[in-house]
Amino acid sequence: MAVHVMDHPLIQHKVSVLRDVKTTSKQFRELVSEIAMLMCYEATRDLPLEDKDVQTPLATAHTKVIAGKKLAFVPILRAGLGMVDGVLTLVPNARVGHIGLYRDPDTLQPVEYYCKLPADIEHREVIVVDPMLATGGSAIDAIAQIKKRGPKDIKFMCLIAAPEGVEALTKAHPDVEVYIAALDDCLNDHGYIVPGLGDAGDRIFGTK
Ligand code: PRP
Ligand code: URA
Repeated sequence: MAVHVMDHPLIQHKVSVLRDVKTTSKQFRELVSEIAMLMCYEATRDLPLEDKDVQTPLATAHTKVIAGKKLAFVPILRAGLGMVDGVLTLVPNARVGHIGLYRDPDTLQPVEYYCKLPADIEHREVIVVDPMLATGGSAIDAIAQIKKRGPKDIKFMCLIAAPEGVEALTKAHPDVEVYIAALDDCLNDHGYIVPGLGDAGDRIFGTK
């Protein structure tokens, strides 16, 4: 499986502002959306193209368009919701599924409370989005749920990952390509990414 760590200066800059404890919820939401949009550009780089002739006011242009491959985005609730607007800006016709998971604060195990996926997800390329990949439990569980519905091509996109989460995810789902804006140092005793950015859901929704 391929793991792509983003090196684009705009992404690095925006992640740096995102981490800052002084960044407000409003700024935080805007940045999550913008970074998701920039990462989506990278994650869709391998979409297949087909030829298309287009009549311009002057002549026929021999062009390329995306070849019928349909996309579905699946945010992991809650924090993944913050990435949806950004990715839909680039791919407005994509379908959106939702998987609700929260980490039990004591065991750090994911607890699923909601799953609603597009009816035709089997025929779509799926990009799962969640700002944080910590232990990897939530991403592993969400992707396992999606795989039961049969799609062949699944990617996972997050803003900040811990090495522990990357290792667990690549072991559990070696066929899934992973896109990461920043790879951090480690997890602390409470399963938080260090240096990270704190609790992504709380910072997006202002719940703390
Ligand atoms: C956060 C984050 C991921 C998960 C990552 O969600 O958005 O879903 O933790 O941790 P893991 O890799 O160890 O599973 P959280 O459980 O805090 O729920 P929330 O988005 O509803 O706040
Ligand atoms: N979830 C978060 O929101 N932040 C972390 O650092 C780890 C899990």
